[in-house]
Amino acid sequence: MALPTKDQITEQLRAVIDPELRKNIVELGMVRSIEIHEDGRVEVVVSLTTAGCPIRSHFEQAVAKAVTDLDGVTAVGVGFDVLSDEEKGDLQKTLGRNKLPEGALAKVKNVICVSSGKGGVGKSTMTANLAAALTAEGHPSGALDCDVYGYSIPRMLGVNAKPEVNGERKILPLDSPSGVKVMSIGFFVEENAAVVWRGPMLHKAIQQFLEDVAWDELEYLLLDLPPGTGDVSMTLAQLLPQAKFIVVTTPQPAAQSVARRGAEMATKFDLEILGVIENMSGFTTPDGERFTIFGEGGGQLLADELDVPLLGKVPLSEPLREHADNGTPLVTAEPDSPASQAIRQAARGILASTPQELPVLQSVPDAAEAPPVSGIPLPVVQ
Ligand SMILES: Nc1ncnc2c1ncn2[C@@H]1O[C@H](COP(=O)(O)OP(=O)(O)OP(=O)(O)O)[C@@H](O)[C@H]1O
Ligand SMILES: [Mg+2]
Repeated sequence: MALPTKDQITEQLRAVIDPELRKNIVELGMVRSIEIHEDGRVEVVVSLTTAGCPIRSHFEQAVAKAVTDLDGVTAVGVGFDVLSDEEKGDLQKTLGRNKLPEGALAKVKNVICVSSGKGGVGKSTMTANLAAALTAEGHPSGALDCDVYGYSIPRMLGVNAKPEVNGERKILPLDSPSGVKVMSIGFFVEENAAVVWRGPMLHKAIQQFLEDVAWDELEYLLLDLPPGTGDVSMTLAQLLPQAKFIVVTTPQPAAQSVARRGAEMATKFDLEILGVIENMSGFTTPDGERFTIFGEGGGQLLADELDVPLLGKVPLSEPLREHADNGTPLVTAEPDSPASQAIRQAARGILASTPQELPVLQSVPDAAEAPPVSGIPLPVVQ
């Protein structure tokens, strides 16, 4: 049987649509190469915008299906590479100005998830203080509370009010006294009310916080994740493949293995882990005597295991907790205290390892394909 030509295959590939950019991969210049072998095998290489592109498997299946339909094709192999910066620039031109990225996060340069497989290790405390430290160093930052069940960011950053909606129907984040822009489900529910949502509802809430909040220009948006590796991490991985993760752990090796599960979730979705923060790392008395209450070495162990830097070791500190309880982050209230210095050092580690590139918010499946929504309706500001 006659083999198909490259042109025929290219024509077929016009059926493969990038769900995010809403154009076909031929038009987008994402078909890197087409090879036709004598036995009818066809190899197609598709260039993605990011290595961790979550729609990889969509392309894999769509390309295979489109090419298999041609007469003479016996097998289809689909490979991937990543567009160079120059090619991404060309793509941006093809799409027109401001098309890539788009949405409410278009001007947010870095999205960083603060996570841990373990509860109570200080994720929220680190999120609030890191955002305050980055802002204080001249890098405007926001904190998004993704812990819809146990939200604590409003209290830690000292903000609580009903957010307003602007003319474009975007929810305005609140300005906290330390200058950090804040959004939390806590602003929408009665004080201390329990939020009982299941997966799809949760997905919708997080999506709304990313898409419908007027984040505007921010260098860093820090996401405070709930403990564990559940639905929220998965949602974030789908919506924000460019997000980076920081894993918080306490110093005892037993905690480190649980904390690592958060990291495993990140690696499973090809998300980059920026580093580890060891929290509650020893206690120094006013006389200078040091006690390693929660053991030692867990942070370094986890960092080595993940092959990422240990961004900081934050000591146990009563003022850190007190200030978190009072809504004044320690890093701004007492910038020179030992815990503040450790957090500020971690913030500098973040600055050093985050290129100032714009992330792209991924589109999500059509409503028809999405799982049915259950639970109580999302409280949306009217
Ligand atoms: N280095 C520290 N020294 C003293 N207290 C701390 C320290 N880090 C956190 N805490 C306190 O420990 C408690 C738990 O911290 P936090 O709420 O930040 O943890 P979390 O990991 O977000 O918890 P959850 O898993 O429930 O979301 C808080 O009361 C906080 O003030
Ligand atoms: Mg928390």
